[in-house]
Amino acid sequence: MDVPAVVALRAGGVGVVVDLTGEVPKVLHWGRDLGELSTAGLEALAFTAIPATLNNAVDVPPTFSLWANESQGWLGTPAHEGHLEGRATASHPRLAGAEQSRGPDGSAELMVRLCDDVSDVDILVTYRLDPTGILAVDTEMTRRSATLLKSDLRYHLAGVSTMLPLPRRATEILDFTGKWCRERAPQRRPVTFGSYVREVRRGKPGHDSPYLLTVGTSGFGFREGEAWAVHVGWSGNQRYLAEQLPEGAGGTHAVVLGAGELLRPGEVSLEAGQTYAAPTCYFAWSDRGLDGLSDRFHELLRARGTHPKTPRPLVLNTWEAVYFDHDLDRLLGLAEKAAEVGVERLVLDDGWFRGRRDDTAGLGDWYVDAKVWPHGLSPLADRVHELGMQFGLWVEPEMINLDSQLAREHPEWILGPSGGLGPPQRHQYVLNIANEQAWAYLLERLDTLVGEYSIDYLKWDHNRDLHEAVCRGADGLDRPGVRAQTLALYRLLDALRERHPALEIESCAGGGGRIDLGILARTDRVWPSDCNDPLERQLIQRWTGQLVPPELVATHVSAAQAHTTHRHAAQSFRLITALFGHAGIEADLTRSSAQELEIFTTWAALYRELRPLLHQGRVVRADLVGEATVLHGVVSPDRTAALFCWARLATSSEGQAGQVIFPGLASDRDYRVRIRGEVGHPSMFQVAPPPWVSRAFEGWVPVPGAVLRLAGLAMPTLNPEQAMLLEIRAA
Ligand code: DGJ
Repeated sequence: MDVPAVVALRAGGVGVVVDLTGEVPKVLHWGRDLGELSTAGLEALAFTAIPATLNNAVDVPPTFSLWANESQGWLGTPAHEGHLEGRATASHPRLAGAEQSRGPDGSAELMVRLCDDVSDVDILVTYRLDPTGILAVDTEMTRRSATLLKSDLRYHLAGVSTMLPLPRRATEILDFTGKWCRERAPQRRPVTFGSYVREVRRGKPGHDSPYLLTVGTSGFGFREGEAWAVHVGWSGNQRYLAEQLPEGAGGTHAVVLGAGELLRPGEVSLEAGQTYAAPTCYFAWSDRGLDGLSDRFHELLRARGTHPKTPRPLVLNTWEAVYFDHDLDRLLGLAEKAAEVGVERLVLDDGWFRGRRDDTAGLGDWYVDAKVWPHGLSPLADRVHELGMQFGLWVEPEMINLDSQLAREHPEWILGPSGGLGPPQRHQYVLNIANEQAWAYLLERLDTLVGEYSIDYLKWDHNRDLHEAVCRGADGLDRPGVRAQTLALYRLLDALRERHPALEIESCAGGGGRIDLGILARTDRVWPSDCNDPLERQLIQRWTGQLVPPELVATHVSAAQAHTTHRHAAQSFRLITALFGHAGIEADLTRSSAQELEIFTTWAALYRELRPLLHQGRVVRADLVGEATVLHGVVSPDRTAALFCWARLATSSEGQAGQVIFPGLASDRDYRVRIRGEVGHPSMFQVAPPPWVSRAFEGWVPVPGAVLRLAGLAMPTLNPEQAMLLEIRAA
């Protein structure tokens, strides 16, 4: 396709406009679709975006290019930094060519080739504006081989930052932090001058993953405000930034939003002909607040060819039921009970392999422990299959305990400095899976286990950070290893899936420490947290859902007293909270009373009934005053059905909950509302709830869409840690 001087990419209500006329292309616009602009219109955009020339600054108006760097007068974070063994540090990229195309799926693509004669590298940047409106940016940097002059020098790449400029009205930053059992805790701050940088050096995104760095207009919420966000589709070290310089970011822009892989010094050194492919950075814009962003990411994930197409089976995971206490009879009893209540997939968690009686030993020895399982896993796996359930198995392939046969036989396979290993974490170290033999060993073990026991599902765990992740190079010296480790992991997952196309895999990392679009390209579900306390889960699930749709987020109901917080929660609160995702049970059903089993059975049936809606609908979250209550739900794409959870997390000073708007519904439709009380009624802090609530417990209450969506319903004040399930159908 011929490339015009100013290129407009348009898809999903989003527009990206790039001016190709200068030495390096400039990003003129990223945000709302500007419509079908003529050539003259695009040129007018380019012309009117040229800002003033400032006092005591470079003598040309500042620009923020697609590959910003100092040669253009830009003194913020550069798009890339590196050197030719100490030389050529002031890179000078220039436009070498561009191609525009449209994909069969409606995506709009721009490929820009830059040449940098100083650094002696070629750069290829691809902007792909997906039909969902998400802009996926890929970058490749190749050390040239044809230029004889410098071709014996390696190009040491310090890093690539993929950045886009934002307008001045983007004034508030939202990102995430967290810890084990409290993942994706949101944090907000104003955009100020300077760089707000989040670096991840854990070798995985981590429990404190920035996850989705979002900058929005003042007070942007779930339903309101304009927001721009970036996510790195990468499971290794990474870096996010929001930056503001006094001179702005070129044109009408003020703030820069960016991300990329965090490279350790020397991690990428390109020899002549070698290419560095940066992880894909996903940029999303919304004028409908955070729900507008999550809508786009959910659509993007749902459009993957590998997105699960079968109903998400109800899971029973054995961890909190038996921990390391593996006993065939007990587990068979658990499997029977699971099948009785309607479980469809049973996952045998940690503790099945050689020497794994607790968490101090065994990792690496991926052979069934004959002392505990004298007849292998078949007696359990076969019975689970006979009972009509799928069989899943926990593994943690990238890890190793020093107390293991593997560590004794291959200490050289352990990732770490040759001068001596640092402290263990959860008694374990990391296997250097970039070592081909170690990688082949894992593939053989996993392949054999999956084949031998007809394993339908792997829960793939990763419980420690990668401190001092170095491995010995051919010259006997230590080299940084996170990038190689991450790529080896992707290869391993890909190879295993190729051998077992029906196998499903869950990404777990001591809870939700590895949730990103890189791992999700190869897995089918994420474990968001080891905390199954519904009070914590309401928030962990709400924010995990910012990126990942409910059908990929594991939501398990566990014992009345949560194992990780020791807090007691009402049964209905636990069951309703666990309904909004890929549901499961994390409890010892052999100890449940007949009444508890009955309620689990009812809940399982409710999950089966509602999962088409839960797993295909659009996620909506209401903006409420204060933090004490939450209202979230899913609305079918045609807006004829919805399911909402009204939950109270804490008490608050006001008596009435007030009229609450139900987002996502059509205001020109008639609906009916009922409260699904099968798994229990919430207790309330009032003499009597609003009359419509009492009636909705009995049956359908007709309510026009305009009332639901624009006026709102008077909601009951629940007691803390209580939830109510509302079903809405078109009348
Ligand atoms: C951490 C996981 O998050 C848990 O669910 C469980 O699988 C344990 N590891 C097992 O060691």
